[in-house]
Amino acid sequence: MKAHAWKVCIRQKRIAGSNPALSASSPICITSPEAGGELMNDSNQNSGLAILPPVLVTGVAGFIGFHTALRLISQGRRVVGVDNFSPYYDVQLKRDRLSYLKAEPAFRFVELNIADKLAMEKLWREEGPFVEVIHLAAQAGVRYSLINPYEYITTNCMGHLTVMEMCRHTPGFRHMVYASSSSVYGGNEKLPFSVKDDVSHPISLYAATKRSDELMSQSYSHLYNIPQTGLRFFTVYGPWGRPDMSLFIFTKAIVAGEKLPVFNHGQMKRDFTYVDDIVSGVVAALEHPPVREGRQAPHRLLNIGNTRSENLMDFIRLIEVELGRKANIEFMGMQPGDVPETFADITETTAVTGFRPTTTIAQGVPRFVAWYKDYYRVS
Ligand SMILES: NC(=O)c1ccc[n+]([C@@H]2O[C@H](COP(=O)([O-])OP(=O)(O)OC[C@H]3O[C@@H](n4cnc5c(N)ncnc54)[C@H](O)[C@@H]3O)[C@@H](O)[C@H]2O)c1
Repeated sequence: MKAHAWKVCIRQKRIAGSNPALSASSPICITSPEAGGELMNDSNQNSGLAILPPVLVTGVAGFIGFHTALRLISQGRRVVGVDNFSPYYDVQLKRDRLSYLKAEPAFRFVELNIADKLAMEKLWREEGPFVEVIHLAAQAGVRYSLINPYEYITTNCMGHLTVMEMCRHTPGFRHMVYASSSSVYGGNEKLPFSVKDDVSHPISLYAATKRSDELMSQSYSHLYNIPQTGLRFFTVYGPWGRPDMSLFIFTKAIVAGEKLPVFNHGQMKRDFTYVDDIVSGVVAALEHPPVREGRQAPHRLLNIGNTRSENLMDFIRLIEVELGRKANIEFMGMQPGDVPETFADITETTAVTGFRPTTTIAQGVPRFVAWYKDYYRVS
């Protein structure tokens, strides 16, 4: 069945702090992907200003959400961000990221749990409707899913469903981009990992929830024609990064002169991807909503990686050089749920979105270490 082209116009509510020159009543029109998928001011009542509906970013106080919101704002978009400040890691770091965003007039923040249906409905009523969503909120981390499995189901599955339900009931919905993970490839041995590979053998509950998100999205796109793109991120690093991730853990341990646990006796390789490259991929994906083709639902999965599998020990050496200190390495066995190597095939991502990562670890690691020293006042 061929989908019909459509055009929907909505009236913008004035957002406190927004440019008063923007007319509160000038409609924004959105055409369906079949009709070009454009967002524009209604030409008949055009105020001459390029106003677009705000993008909803979930998990905005998180590492990738924060950088994504900043990029969108720098491109002239308005952003409404939500987060529940989950205590998985240092909440002060999340609040500090947010304080940067709150300084931007084009940004609004609502504290809520994405799995709370009533709170989400209120958000849509009061700040929306949202026709573009970047859904990044999640209980992240492979190892923690061995300790607190329930949080993964609540946020990653129930939360994902709630976000999709809101999109489903939004007329003229344009595109939902959501975070999946390279962990869905589990113990696959064929490298690089391709979106065409079998991913039916997750080896952690975290991976199982991310794969479940992909399957839920496939069904919702099929049933309700919601354009969705799932991005499989590969080990993201950079300034304002997550304290549970290797670069942060290594830097902290070296600064403190503490033992640095290195798993699988250092025989680990990762496709480390710099956060600015990841954000470029997220924003490029948002601009390319998939289109229904015949019986094929408007849903696609893309890898977002650096397409280089870097040796973990090389990564550690770069941190040592930047800090001018030697690491006190303690080699350990493999952690359950972990994989020895990740490596992204981004052929399809580049073809669809033009995404091309540019940052090497030799460029990215020093930027992280500089931020770390500044933020934690390391001399
Ligand atoms: N960073 C990586 O290397 C990486 C790799 C693969 C996939 N991902 C995925 O990318 C997304 C963003 O990751 P990140 O590194 O920014 O993680 P993050 O933990 O820094 O950010 C996630 C944010 O979501 C918020 N959150 C958690 N549960 C919530 C809930 N129920 N309601 C509202 N907010 C909630 C958290 O407070 C946090 O600020 C996640 O979906 C993650 O699984 C990240």
